[in-house]
Amino acid sequence: MKVLILGGTGSIGTAVTQELLRHGHDVTGLSRSDASDRRLAAMGARPLRGDLRHPGCWVREVARVDGVIQLAAAFDGGMAEADTAAMAAILRQAAMRPEPLRLIYTGGCWLYGATGERVADETSPLRPIRPFAWMQKNAGTVLASPALSAAVIHPAMVYHEGGGAFSRHLDAARSARPFEIWGSISTRWPLVQRSDLARAYRLLLEHPDLTGHFNASAETGVPVARITREIARRHGHDASYVVRSLKHVLIKYGSWAEGPALDQQMASAKLRRLTGWQPVFTSFRDAQF
Ligand SMILES: NC(=O)c1ccc[n+]([C@@H]2O[C@H](COP(=O)([O-])OP(=O)(O)OC[C@H]3O[C@@H](n4cnc5c(N)ncnc54)[C@H](OP(=O)(O)O)[C@@H]3O)[C@@H](O)[C@H]2O)c1
Repeated sequence: MKVLILGGTGSIGTAVTQELLRHGHDVTGLSRSDASDRRLAAMGARPLRGDLRHPGCWVREVARVDGVIQLAAAFDGGMAEADTAAMAAILRQAAMRPEPLRLIYTGGCWLYGATGERVADETSPLRPIRPFAWMQKNAGTVLASPALSAAVIHPAMVYHEGGGAFSRHLDAARSARPFEIWGSISTRWPLVQRSDLARAYRLLLEHPDLTGHFNASAETGVPVARITREIARRHGHDASYVVRSLKHVLIKYGSWAEGPALDQQMASAKLRRLTGWQPVFTSFRDAQF
C-alpha cells in the first residue's frame, strides 16, 4: 500500500515506519525539519516537508495514497488544534476520492481514565484525562466520516529498548535516586512493547474492513511497583521508592501527569481476534530496556 505517516519520526512512528517498509509498503513521512528528512530517508521512507498545523501544504498527498496513519503529536498547548486542523483537512481531501481513505488514528489508554478492577475493552466508556479530551472528539469525527474507513488504535503504555514509558524509572535507577511511583503503590499500567504495537498498526492498516476502536495491550495491568523492582534488579538499584500523590504530580509536572498516575487495566481481545495480532513480548521482563 502507499501510506502517508504523520509522526513517522516519533517514538511509536519510527517503529511503525520500519514495520511498514519491512512488509513492502511504500511509505511517505511528514517531516518538519532537515533532521526528520534524514531519519525518514535513512529508514527508506520518502520525506514530505510539512507541519501538522499547516495541512494546506501537504494534504494533497492524501489523493496519492491508500492509507494515512496519524501518530504526530507535539505534547504542547497547541496539540489539540494541530490534530483537529490536520484531521479536518484530511477529511475534506478524502471526500474527493472515489473510494474511502484508510485512516489509522491514534488514541491511547489514557482515554479510558482510571479503570481500577474493571478491564477496559472497546465497549468501555471513554473518560479521557483532561489534556487528551480532544482526542476522543477527533476519534469520533474520523470514525463517523463516510469519506474514511477509520480505525482508532489505543496503545497501552509503550516501552522499548530505549525505555519509553519506563524512561523516568530508568533515569532514577541510573542516578541512584528512589523511584517515584505516581498515584498509589497499587497503580497498574497496561503495557505493550513498541515493535508489537507497530505490528498492530500494520495489521489494522492492511484490513480496511476493520473499523472502530481497537486496544493494543500485551499485558492487561502490571503494577508499576513490579516494573520498578525489575529495573532495580537490572541496574543494581536498592529498589527504594516514594509514592507521589496525584495532587503532588499535577502541581509539579502539569495536567498530563494524571496519565501515568491512573490505575488502569486494558485488554485487546478484539484486535487479537480480528487481525490475528499476537504480541511477542507477553511479559515486559522478557524485553530489553
Ligand atoms: N508513547 C506512549 O506510551 C503512548 C501511549 C498511548 C498513546 N500514545 C500516543 O501516540 C502518539 C505518538 O506518541 P509518541 O510517543 O510516538 O510521540 P513522540 O515520540 O513525541 O513523536 C511525535 C511525532 O510527532 C511529530 N510532530 C510533532 N509536532 C508536529 C508538527 N507540528 N508537525 C509535524 N509533525 C509533528 C514529531 O516530529 P519531529 O520528529 O519533527 O519532532 C514526531 O514524529 C501520541 O498521540 C500519543 O499521545 C503514546
